[in-house]
Amino acid sequence: MTATRKAYRAALLHSLADPAEVGIEASYEYVEDGLLVIDQGHIQAMGAASDLLPTLDADIEVVHYPDALITPGFIDTHIHFPQTGMIGSYGEQLLDWLNTYTFPCERQFADKGHADQVADIFLAELLRNGTTTALVFGSVHPESVNALFEQAERLDLRLIAGKVMMDRNAPDYLTDTAETGYRDSQALIQRWHGKGRLQYAVTPRFAPTSTPEQLAAAGRLLKENPGVYLHTHLSENLKEIDWVKELFPERSGYLDVYDHFELLGERSVFAHGVHLCDAECERLAETGSAVAFCPTSNLFLGSGLFNLPQAERFKVNVGLGTDVGAGTSFSLLNTLNEAYKVMQLQGARLHPFKSLYLATLGGARALRLDDRIGSLRPGNEADFVVLDYKATPLLDYRLQQSRSIEETLFVLTTLGDDRTVRETYAAGRCVHKRA
Ligand code: GUN
Ligand code: ZN
Repeated sequence: MTATRKAYRAALLHSLADPAEVGIEASYEYVEDGLLVIDQGHIQAMGAASDLLPTLDADIEVVHYPDALITPGFIDTHIHFPQTGMIGSYGEQLLDWLNTYTFPCERQFADKGHADQVADIFLAELLRNGTTTALVFGSVHPESVNALFEQAERLDLRLIAGKVMMDRNAPDYLTDTAETGYRDSQALIQRWHGKGRLQYAVTPRFAPTSTPEQLAAAGRLLKENPGVYLHTHLSENLKEIDWVKELFPERSGYLDVYDHFELLGERSVFAHGVHLCDAECERLAETGSAVAFCPTSNLFLGSGLFNLPQAERFKVNVGLGTDVGAGTSFSLLNTLNEAYKVMQLQGARLHPFKSLYLATLGGARALRLDDRIGSLRPGNEADFVVLDYKATPLLDYRLQQSRSIEETLFVLTTLGDDRTVRETYAAGRCVHKRA
């Protein structure tokens, strides 16, 4: 789509691997004065400016950012597009929060005009925050997904989304049936999956709001459409977990409900997983399933503290999610700030390079997209962000004291937010420029 041939000179930083697997030093690459060369929406070269500048054709424009860091675009592995307008809703934990705020808010998405308007706000917000790929919940209405994909297609974003399937334990105005949920999802898959950079996720809301018939239909959709994703919630809240036990007494636990309906796999992403036992972690890893760690949401709804060391021990794929609207920020920098505190409360540490990994390459791996996004590797799609070292007076002053890229990165994740993102690029095209 884009035929821009351009080079960007700045400090470059990206993850090469999970620090839990290769150690900190081997997990990243940093080039203090680097050059990123883009051609046809892809990364053609990345390396030291002194090496690459002499190799460039004379007609290639070089954009220089002396006080900035280029990283891969951020990857949000769990977010709700129809909850944009209810972010920051007071006072409830998960099940009451759904009934009080979420369902009435999502009801409005039956109206395509409303969905169009919110899709515009939602995508602008992702890009302002440097998020170039997201795995997105729609509402139960196919219109919500059409609205989102139509606008994402225009921006040539790599985006995954799906309509919610929900046929019980929710208001009548917001339910489908096992049959219509299947049919509507199938039609959306035909229309959108694999179109440009868009992909589809079969999206049962969570076990309590789907009948066994609907979960079986979700399993059929996965079988009949290889390559589509499965996106749902898992073990977020203790009352929710008790409810799942009541609704599915014949299953050994929450994950086993999904397992029974053959919903686990390499393209399955389960949001939260705050209260998992070791056997569940083992099963997630064995099936190649991923968990989305959503710290701001888990704190906001009082759900609990995600046990990242446990997930690492069992080699579960973990991505980072904002989970807006239970999550309180679209910014993955801000989300990492909260993730660090979640780890501190458990007597553990979140190393800055693990943070970088979670927000970029780890997310790409969770989504099985690490062969095309998540790092600045030549050949990858050119989704990247320019982070401004001078975004605020405090950030500027604090970074003047920094003695290493590790320290700089930690400060960026502690103080950073949408103001830190100077520009966002998707497929080599500038899709956000901070005012
Ligand atoms: N579980 C089921 N639905 C939801 C939702 O919309 N948000 C969160 N955080 N958890 C859920
Ligand atoms: Zn969620």
